[in-house]
Amino acid sequence: NTFVISFYRIIFSVGKAQDFPAGFKFGVATAAYQVEGAWNISGRASSIWDEFVHSRPQATADHSTGDVACDSFHLWRRDIDMVAELGVDFYRFSISWTRLYPNGFTNYLNEDGKRYYEDLIDTLLNRGIEPLVTLYHWDLPQKFQDLGGWTNPLVVEWFAEYARAVFTLFADRVHTWITINEPIALCDMVYHVGSHAPGILSPGVGNYICMKNVMLAHAKAWRIFDEEFRSKHYGRIAICNMHLAYEPASDEETEAAELARQLFVGVYTHPIYSAAGGWPPKIEKIISDRSLKDGYNYSRLPAFTTAEKDLIRGTYDFYAMNYYTGRLVRKAKIADKYGIWPLEASTDLEVIVYPDPKWKMSDSYWLYVYPEGIRHQLNWIGKNYGNQAIIITENGYSDSKMDLNDKERVQYHRGHLKQVLLSIYEDDVNVTGYTAWSLMDNFEWNSGYTQRFGLYAVDFTSPLRTRTPRASALYYGAVVRQRLLDPVYDNPYQTSRASNIVIHTSVNLFITLINLMYC
Ligand code: NOJ
Repeated sequence: NTFVISFYRIIFSVGKAQDFPAGFKFGVATAAYQVEGAWNISGRASSIWDEFVHSRPQATADHSTGDVACDSFHLWRRDIDMVAELGVDFYRFSISWTRLYPNGFTNYLNEDGKRYYEDLIDTLLNRGIEPLVTLYHWDLPQKFQDLGGWTNPLVVEWFAEYARAVFTLFADRVHTWITINEPIALCDMVYHVGSHAPGILSPGVGNYICMKNVMLAHAKAWRIFDEEFRSKHYGRIAICNMHLAYEPASDEETEAAELARQLFVGVYTHPIYSAAGGWPPKIEKIISDRSLKDGYNYSRLPAFTTAEKDLIRGTYDFYAMNYYTGRLVRKAKIADKYGIWPLEASTDLEVIVYPDPKWKMSDSYWLYVYPEGIRHQLNWIGKNYGNQAIIITENGYSDSKMDLNDKERVQYHRGHLKQVLLSIYEDDVNVTGYTAWSLMDNFEWNSGYTQRFGLYAVDFTSPLRTRTPRASALYYGAVVRQRLLDPVYDNPYQTSRASNIVIHTSVNLFITLINLMYC
């Protein structure tokens, strides 16, 4: 196959523009509640997602739960085999807080939980795969929710204590950390939309209180790592943000689009990555003005003290970005009906957001395919926060089928990887890694098992939760190994497979002949 690869490189002048740079790393990702199952065994206690799906079956499209999910608590060895089959550099997974610390507090460590993550981490390392660990992927201990969850300022200490305990256990072996995955999902999707656990509607109030606590919790965890662990065990740590590409609907809407970006992402990045720190100034002013106009005595977006701003500013070692899709943005008109932030509108900003009709829809109602958006977002980060290392910590495509010949997913990853290469080579953005979401089909939150993001298909009807590679796994594995956007790979699910094999064999023979002629 080396011959075939060199042939492709020369004949199609693949060269620099399609080659992934040396040092660029590839990974795949999952998250604890979405794959582990074993929700009430081996000492694990309930998280907000357990409680949410058990008490409100209608919260998921198929009334399902993550009780068993992919059963990775038992099948983790197979998961690691799959990660190794793909040949990726790292595996991103998250830790279930209540599996390790069922009380939420760290006064009691669940030995079974410790053993589980230790086995996972050690086996990955033994197989040459780097663990990239997320401390929090939305599964707060229910015990803390009963005390107010992310709107109780004490959550900052609860999270910091948990972070310190996890670093103490694993920082000798884990060197890349994410503190909190997609804060928008645990603030806006809970308090604004009500769709995510614990589903408390308090739009324009609860989500803003949550945001402030999330920022402080992240900052404390980062500082603990920095002060107590970094010198002993090298490592890097950052928060992970969801980016939607908010594009202006017309030339007149550039300001509206930038405001949407600032409310969607800036609120979680400006306090950390900007030189000044604190909330994005325009957002802070808009929400404050609106709150006072509506008769509040102070802004619904809680202010930071100077000490808090200083605590948060600079708490990063890299930038972690999840990207899936985009939206167009325009200023609202008087007759407009306001949908729900962040997918339809923002009442505070008075903007309407909607998908471009030209973008192809996936099977997820929110995911429209817009690969150029990933490049725009990478540029936006570079422009606003300097040329630091950016890891794309998630990017993926959903469908609702078991289909193994997932051509759309292959196209999706290829399309986005192409844009990543353009940002590296054309825009000089320092993108250092790409993570495909997801290693396998799993519990897709409110969509339950109706939406599948996996490179590997999982048979949820089988007690064995059989995993089978899709064409996208074969494509991605080939990209990783050959470091090419258009690698040579054999898709066994293609109907025209025979002719493919004939073509590949002929190419191989041709190259062999050329090589013989030159030898
Ligand atoms: C981002 C989240 O981190 C992940 O949990 C989710 O499954 C994917 N988006 C797809 O919706």
